Amino acid sequence: MADGFTLWFTGLSGAGKSTLAQLVAAELNRRGHRVEVLDGDEVRTNLSKGLGFSKADRDTNIRRIGYVCKLLARNGVIAIAAAISPYREVRDEVRRMHDRFVEVHVKCSLGRLIERDVKGLYKKALAGEIREFTGISDPYEPPLNPEIVIETDDEPPKASLVRLVTTLERLHYIERNGLP
Ligand code: ADX
Repeated sequence: MADGFTLWFTGLSGAGKSTLAQLVAAELNRRGHRVEVLDGDEVRTNLSKGLGFSKADRDTNIRRIGYVCKLLARNGVIAIAAAISPYREVRDEVRRMHDRFVEVHVKCSLGRLIERDVKGLYKKALAGEIREFTGISDPYEPPLNPEIVIETDDEPPKASLVRLVTTLERLHYIERNGLP
């Protein structure tokens, strides 16, 4: 049961949190760890159904995800959260609920996010069709001391995965095992 911890991805929509969360989950699974992913988009269809994007609702969403992560982590699971989690204070609150917590800032420039715009949301936000959109019309407070920063402007996901896993090894959250 010793290996549970929470791996918390924070960053703007489209920065690559979900992609990285899935990749690292698969790799940790392959290494024999028990893993669970709590992804913002999915959580909002069940655990947080009905919540919007005001600060209060986002904070509630993050507290719920943090609570579930805490339960999983203390039972030996590696809990992986991938939500924008734009507010520093509630992220730090979730951190304090944990013995073992790794914050990953998935960082990408706004210019590149607008250019990629995988879900077409930036275009709508810029046109004023979506209000309170993080990075456009709503704040994002970057972590001050994240354990890991992953810059996804130019780095392909596989390379980010290698850096992430290597850092987890170096911080002794997982054993060295070699990537495939
Ligand atoms: S969080 O702020 O509460 O952490 P969460 O990660 O759950 O956000 O949800 C973000 C996702 O909701 C985005 O990736 C996007 O698909 C969608 N979304 C819809 N409206 C907004 C908005 N106003 N701001 C940010 N994301 C939004």
